[in-house]
This record gives sequence, C-alpha cells and structure tokens, in this order.
Amino acid sequence: MNSECTRVLTGITTTGTPHLGNYVGAIRPTVQVSRNSATEGFYFLADYHALIKCGDPSRVQRSTLEIAASWIAAGLDPEMVTFYRQSDIPQIPELTWLLTCVTGKGLLNRAHAYKAATDKNHAAGHDTDADVTAGLFMYPVLMGADILMFKAHKVPVGRDQIQHIEMARDMASSFNHLYGEHFVLPEAVIEESVALLPGLDGRKMSKSYDNTIPLFAPSAQMRKQINAIVTDSRAPGEPKSTEGSALFQIFKAFASAEETEQLAQAFADGIAWGDAKQHLFERLDREIAPMRASYEDLIHNPDKVERILKLGAEKALQRSAPFMAELRSAVGLRSLSTQPSLQIEKVSKASAPQFKQYREKDGQFYFKLVSPQGHTLLLSKGFSSPKEAGLAIAQLIANGASALDALQAQLEALHANARDEVLENLNFLHFNSDK
Ligand code: TRP
Repeated sequence: MNSECTRVLTGITTTGTPHLGNYVGAIRPTVQVSRNSATEGFYFLADYHALIKCGDPSRVQRSTLEIAASWIAAGLDPEMVTFYRQSDIPQIPELTWLLTCVTGKGLLNRAHAYKAATDKNHAAGHDTDADVTAGLFMYPVLMGADILMFKAHKVPVGRDQIQHIEMARDMASSFNHLYGEHFVLPEAVIEESVALLPGLDGRKMSKSYDNTIPLFAPSAQMRKQINAIVTDSRAPGEPKSTEGSALFQIFKAFASAEETEQLAQAFADGIAWGDAKQHLFERLDREIAPMRASYEDLIHNPDKVERILKLGAEKALQRSAPFMAELRSAVGLRSLSTQPSLQIEKVSKASAPQFKQYREKDGQFYFKLVSPQGHTLLLSKGFSSPKEAGLAIAQLIANGASALDALQAQLEALHANARDEVLENLNFLHFNSDK
C-alpha cells in the first residue's frame, strides 16, 4: 500500500435511480476528487446497505447497475481508482463482526437514523423498536467496516453521514486500543460548496419525497419534469425572488458564478417562469447530454459493467484479503499450529485522559471519557444543562468508584470490562488535576 498517498473512499447505497441531487451531492464531487493524482480512490456500490432499506431484489440489482453506469458515465475512471461492489468483498461482513465486538451498544443507540426510528415509535405510542431491524441498528458498523477495511483517510459524505464517520473513528480507536495499531482513523470531508439540491416541490430532493428529477431521464422527460418545478404565481414582467426558488437553486448547482449572476438579474427583471425553466433545461442538458450516450450504452450492456466491477473487486481483494488475515490473527483467530505469542503489547500512555463535553442534536448535554489512546471509555446519557454534566464529571474525578456507582443511571457502559480502566484513568485525573 502506498502510504504516502491520501486514501479517499466513499460509497453510494443502491436503492434507487440516481437523480440530480445524487449527481450534485455525491457523483460529481467524487469524480472530481478521483482525478486528483495525489489521492488513491476507493469508490463502491453499497449493496449490503441497500438491503437495510429495500426488500425488493430486482430493484437492488437494477439500482446497482444504474449507479455504477452513472458513476462511470460521469467520468469515474475504473483504471485510476478502485471501483467495486461492496458485496464482492467478503471481508467486509467479516470485519463488521470484529467491529461489532468492540462497539458499545450505547453508541449505536444514539445513531441518528436509529434514534429517528425509535422517536417516531414513541411519538406513535408503539414499542421502542417496533419495525426496527437489527440491520438498521448495525448500519454504522457495516459502514465502519467499509471505511476501515481500506484504511481510508478521507471520506467525502453528506452532512447526515458525519456521525457515522465519527463512529467509525470510535470503532477504530477501540480496536487499536485492544489489539494494536491496525486501523487508520478516518475523517469526514464535507464539501461546503455542495448545496443540498431542492426537489420539484422545494423540499430536499429525495426519493423519500418523490420529488426527484432522474439524472439520465430522456431529454423530453427531463423537460417535462423541469416544467413541474413549483414556482410562485408571479406573472411575466414581475420581479421574482431567487430566495427560496428551487428552480434557481438547481440552476446554480450546475452553472458558473457568471451564469448564476445573469439568471439572478433576469429574475430581478421579471423573467417569465416558462423562460426561466427553459434556461434551466438548456443548462442541465448541456452538462448531461454528453454523458447520456455513455450511460445508455452501459445500461444496455450490463455485462460491461459486471466486468468492470469484477476487475475492481480483484483490486480491492488484494488489499482486503491480506489485511483481514492480519486482523484475524490480531484478535486471536489463529491457526493452532502457530505458537501463541505470550507477549502482550502494552500501549504506552503518553498523554492524559480527557473528559470531552458536547451537545447532541437532541439538545441534551453529554460527556465522554477518552483515554490517552483516544479510546472512549465512558459515555454519559443526556443532561439538561452543561452545568449538570460538569458536576457529574467533577464527582467522577473527585470520588472515582463511588461516583461511578452513584452515577450509574446517567452513564452508559461502553465495554463490560472497561471498569478497571475507567478507574485507572479517573485516578490519574484525580491526582493530576489542578486542585
Ligand atoms: N451511508 C452512506 C449513504 O447513505 C453510503 C455508504 C455506505 C458510505 N458505506 C459508506 C459512504 C462508506 C461513505 C463511506 O450515503
């Protein structure tokens, strides 16, 4: 593995037909990154993830083909990057299990997607976990395996995925702490300039709102859909506001700054909605038409795509197979014929443990105790104020084990066996605090 190179990795879940939002938010930016020769790219079709949301086999298959074809048509070069299908890499589910065993259940309880599902159940008066699969619950671990398997440094994702990358870091440091430095700690890359694209009705363009414009719909269909974008009732000649205009936002995502400025001026000058839609159609078509032929060719020749993905899987396996062998040995899944190593590596405690306080989306205040190795040892439940959280931390530092017991209800144990380590770190803080 070329260790000089920054490794960039991202995946797209194969549950639907790629739309303009996917193109602007995921496909186009990753193609740009993939052309940077200072990086090594890993791009994949997350079809195991698709099974969490989609129970329709033909749809998963079709979407895999469509997303692969879109990525290639948009300029992803399978020769330059490692482009593969997640389910062609058996080491990914294998790694998922190893990570499952170092991931706190409490951590997964707080994953946004899972919490949204349980919150909805609570609001409806249903059981907490009604209709929630273990697959949804485990989603972040599978994603952690995707990322850690290829030692990715950078993971370009949408904002809604940041928490998953943080969890992957947690898993990596837990594992490294227990078994030695095997994993690279990944970082999310959020492209600030990539706007969330609004859909036909002005809400975020998303399959779940049924407001999408497919990326590679035939020209005539795209024109029809653009005509269906919701606008206000201002007549031709009346100045129009760019603010809150889905039409304007979509145009902006495809146009240069200059073109965008021109359209803004046309809005101020009272352009008719019909003409504005025509502008948008022409601008989109200018970018998409050249890719459409290549897309159509791939869709009608699925064998070509299959071959590309198989070659990609071979490349990926050259990394994943030896790495998995290393990891299996690290955790003790070893041939009985080899001598067990009696020497257990001690990780040096270079710096001090730390309490980290933070606020979650639910508005509550949390803290965690992080060991000098970056390993999360203790996780709190939500406090209603930072002061309460701070008080609990002070008690833990002052009183160690007895505070740990007293605060049990407010804490989430991360590792069943971590108590000694927690106490050791609390002790350190107790004797090294300023007071
Ligand atoms: N969860 C991502 C999404 O829905 C897709 C995904 C799966 C992914 N595994 C990944 C993205 C690993 C980045 C890295 O958008």
